[in-house]
Amino acid sequence: MTESGPAGAGRLPTTPRFHRVRQAGRNPHTVMHEVLQEYGDVVRWRGLFDMCIVNHPDLIRPVLTQDYRHFSKNTTHYRMLRQVMGNGLVTNDGPDWVRQRRLIQPAFASRRLARFDQTINALTSSLLARWERQDPAEAVWIDREMSALTFDIVGETLFGRDIKEHAREMAEILEVVNLSSNDLRSFLTLYPWIPTAYNRKWKRAMKRLDGIVYGLMEGRGADGNGGGDLLGRLFAARDEETGEGMHDRQIRDEVVTLILAGHETSAMALSWTLYLLATHPEIEARLVEHLEASLHGAPAGAEDLPRLTYLKQVVQEAMRIYPPVWGYVRRAEAETELGDYVLPARTWVGVVTWALHRRPDFWPDPERFDPDRFAPERAEERDFFAYLPFAAGPRTCIGAGMAMLEIQLILAQLVPQFRMRVVPGHPIETEAVVTLKPRHGIPVTLSRR
Ligand code: HEM
Repeated sequence: MTESGPAGAGRLPTTPRFHRVRQAGRNPHTVMHEVLQEYGDVVRWRGLFDMCIVNHPDLIRPVLTQDYRHFSKNTTHYRMLRQVMGNGLVTNDGPDWVRQRRLIQPAFASRRLARFDQTINALTSSLLARWERQDPAEAVWIDREMSALTFDIVGETLFGRDIKEHAREMAEILEVVNLSSNDLRSFLTLYPWIPTAYNRKWKRAMKRLDGIVYGLMEGRGADGNGGGDLLGRLFAARDEETGEGMHDRQIRDEVVTLILAGHETSAMALSWTLYLLATHPEIEARLVEHLEASLHGAPAGAEDLPRLTYLKQVVQEAMRIYPPVWGYVRRAEAETELGDYVLPARTWVGVVTWALHRRPDFWPDPERFDPDRFAPERAEERDFFAYLPFAAGPRTCIGAGMAMLEIQLILAQLVPQFRMRVVPGHPIETEAVVTLKPRHGIPVTLSRR
């Protein structure tokens, strides 16, 4: 049942067959990829939500950059996230977002982030010390270990303290929150008065989340503790024009946003990178050699990262194959021309990085793990908008620098010390919820190098 026809000015793009969209409930990213391969750079997607997916750098560029003001985050996906993150940076929009971004941006300046390198290295060292004592025959779930580590890092960098006591509770809350937007249960959270079992669970999770976050904020406040941690910087931030700071509810929303946006994403980037290294011993060996030659067994500091070029290439390539945020959506607020099409106002426009990163014209042999694609001397060949793990333009990820710092520092310490091998026979499958997770986890055995 293919509706609407060939490409052409003023027409809506092709609609794929409905049954395919239904299959997408479980694997939206792979089905969207297949549909794009079949129908072209723009497809109309009619699932639980109706949207246009765009999959060419030239079409994505205006959405994220020059025309970004015409594309809002007024979609059901963000309304669902707003239930948790409130008016934090990810879900905020319009002038309010502009003001908040301006206030928060300085806290993420690279020279200020660089100071976190010792914290990140210390937390990584404790994890590796625990692994030393591990029975080598026993499998370690690398995705869970990386989530716990990045959560500890969020605790120390955001709150300047150990928040391990909340780790288990936060993991449970995150499980409730991190549902696919194709999952009807998450959709129903928009109607919290509907007494479903899931809505009750959701409300309890939100109450617990507020309890933790307000608890951590208590006693901080306007004492000007703007020095070390990110929370202090949020409390100290003042609008240049009005001199105003943020009220408690706004800080709560920004804090929850930073915890959620900054922890699982980095954990997934690390888990998939380690998985790819474990399954590509020749690339793993080259990375170990590179790190040993540059660092001679010491942990890296922030100042070492610019010369660890191959390490960065490995991380970039892993995020090409497994983008931790597999897609994002905007709403065209007015009728918009996009390539050959005219999209009516209120059309949702989706970018599916999973599919974009697999375009064979930009990424030949796309399934192959080949960090040399990101070699500095090949940078000119790349189209910036064919690789968007952190999105781009004004709404690009504010934490990209922080994420790259922690991912690279962790790998620089971990990879030369431990060899990992995936437990044979264990199924490795992707699951596209808000982040791209390993559906059945990644169990590995560890051996000391
Ligand atoms: C590998 C790790 C990460 C990836 C792949 C990632 C990816 C992204 C992407 C794709 C967006 C745009 C989302 C959209 O348009 O809806 C985004 C936004 C955002 N990210 Fe990240 N992120 C990562 C780590 C972090 C970290 C460590 C933090 C904070 C500590 C963070 C905080 C944010 C915030 C606050 C936004 C909203 C920015 C705005 O709209 O002004 N992210 N991220």
